[in-house]
Amino acid sequence: MIPTSQRMELPPYAMGWYMVALSHELEPGAVRPIHYFGRELVLFRTEAGEAQVLDAYCPHLGAHLGHGGVVKGDSVQCPFHAWAFDGKGRCTDVPYAKKIPPKASIRSWEVTEVNGLIMVWFHPDDEPPRWQVPALPEIGSEDWTPYEHRDWTIRARNQEMAENGVDTAHFHYLHRTSNMPEASASIEGHVLRIQSTTGMKTPRGGVDGVVTVHEHGFGFTTTRFTGLVETLLVAGVTPIDEEQVHLRFNFTIRKLGNANATTGVGRAFISEITRQVTQDIPIWENKVYLPRPVLCDGDGPIGVFRKWARQFYVDRDAA
Ligand code: FES
Ligand SMILES: [Fe+2]
Repeated sequence: MIPTSQRMELPPYAMGWYMVALSHELEPGAVRPIHYFGRELVLFRTEAGEAQVLDAYCPHLGAHLGHGGVVKGDSVQCPFHAWAFDGKGRCTDVPYAKKIPPKASIRSWEVTEVNGLIMVWFHPDDEPPRWQVPALPEIGSEDWTPYEHRDWTIRARNQEMAENGVDTAHFHYLHRTSNMPEASASIEGHVLRIQSTTGMKTPRGGVDGVVTVHEHGFGFTTTRFTGLVETLLVAGVTPIDEEQVHLRFNFTIRKLGNANATTGVGRAFISEITRQVTQDIPIWENKVYLPRPVLCDGDGPIGVFRKWARQFYVDRDAA
């Protein structure tokens, strides 16, 4: 029995860049309602091709811009009375007024589009971005396959899911990998670098591989596997609200000489990672967060992870 004083709730939202859509889902001129961070938002792509995110509700009489809004040039036009707002949230047009009311503006969100992903910056106190998302050399390269996507909605907090990468013992005991990976972790500002070796099951038998994970805050993680074949998993975990997160996996594989072999290896790899996630989900959804866990000498670098994780909360005592 764990005393109540030993358990605590992690804050639901931490600062960072978070995926809100995949680039190919948003054509120029498209407008979509999205719901993340417990808020209603509108995502649109201008005619010139820029992805933009605003709070959803029009300051005029409250219509949701994501339901019926249309793109006009660089702005999204409200479906109710045709007021238009640009990507900075400034009102650019009120077609039946002589003067645009000075207060006619909407909160805009910092957006970056890189690696085929549309991401927004979240900060609990609305502070500007502290870092940028790196462009990955594999994405868009001729030598790598287009992304394969998978996604899940999970009742969990970002930090709990991020901790998986350093929790070496669970790979063997929960996921039944053939060995207990050896892992080391180091902190470089907002990036946690984890290096481990692991045995993975594939239809072709067990394979030992080296796994290099870079966690850029809680919202954007790259995992590179070498061994059987080189693969890159670009993962995103975005809080939907205080209960749930949206997990997205985007896989790419270095092309082998023959396309069928690439597809076969790719499928085997994706199904192995997917199998592991489906084993993690019931753990994440039912566990408690322990600020002072009882660890043993065989555990992975969980202490390093926890130290790194604290920087993403405004209240550092929170986690
Ligand atoms: S509610 Fe948006 S223009 Fe009136
Ligand atoms: Fe796991």
